Amino acid sequence: MTTLSTALLLLLLVSGIPAAMSHKAEAKPSDPCGPPWKDSDKTPISVLVTDSITHTPNKTYSTYVVYRGILLGGLRRLQDSTKDFTFTYTEDTNYGPFLQSVNGLPGGKQNRTYWELLVNTTKNPIIRPDVGIGCYIPNANDQIILKYTKY
Ligand SMILES: *[C@@H]1O[C@H](CO)[C@@H](O)[C@H](O)[C@H]1NC(C)=O
Ligand SMILES: *[C@@H]1O[C@H](CO)[C@@H](O)[C@H](O)[C@H]1NC(C)=O
Ligand SMILES: *[C@@H]1O[C@H](CO)[C@@H](O)[C@H](O)[C@H]1NC(C)=O
Repeated sequence: MTTLSTALLLLLLVSGIPAAMSHKAEAKPSDPCGPPWKDSDKTPISVLVTDSITHTPNKTYSTYVVYRGILLGGLRRLQDSTKDFTFTYTEDTNYGPFLQSVNGLPGGKQNRTYWELLVNTTKNPIIRPDVGIGCYIPNANDQIILKYTKY
């Protein structure tokens, strides 16, 4: 090796070390402060059950879907973990799973009732997804609103 290339190599090594150290120093504090779902495959959501017909008091639950998981999976997980939350759905040939009842209140033709699916996202105020519980893929911290209403 020539003296020049040795000097260049030394220069690279010396300048490289502080860069690596400062990178580490930057990355460390963000770990404990980062969002909890970053290090796992859990996407946290909350579920608000609201009844605009018989006015049962609102109820809010917390659960999660797996990474890119569908809402139906999160609702099943919630039903399994909370005695307080139950739901049933029917399988529509064309539209897939369709909410039939939540916490014992049924949708039906007799009283022209149904369970509307709304999502209060962190960005957009409130959206009405154009897909059902079997296709909607929640984003982290979505507030899923299941609203008992009339048509
Ligand atoms: C229940 O939730 C609905 C939908 O978010 C809201 O409009 C309503 O004000 C809530 N009712 C109460 C009593 O908090
Ligand atoms: C229809 O509404 C009436 C009056 O609120 C109620 O008693 C009845 O249980 C409802 N029927 C169904 C199928 O929800
Ligand atoms: C939507 O979410 C925001 C923030 O989480 C909350 O303050 C607001 O009350 C929610 N809206 C409804 C209708 O629940």
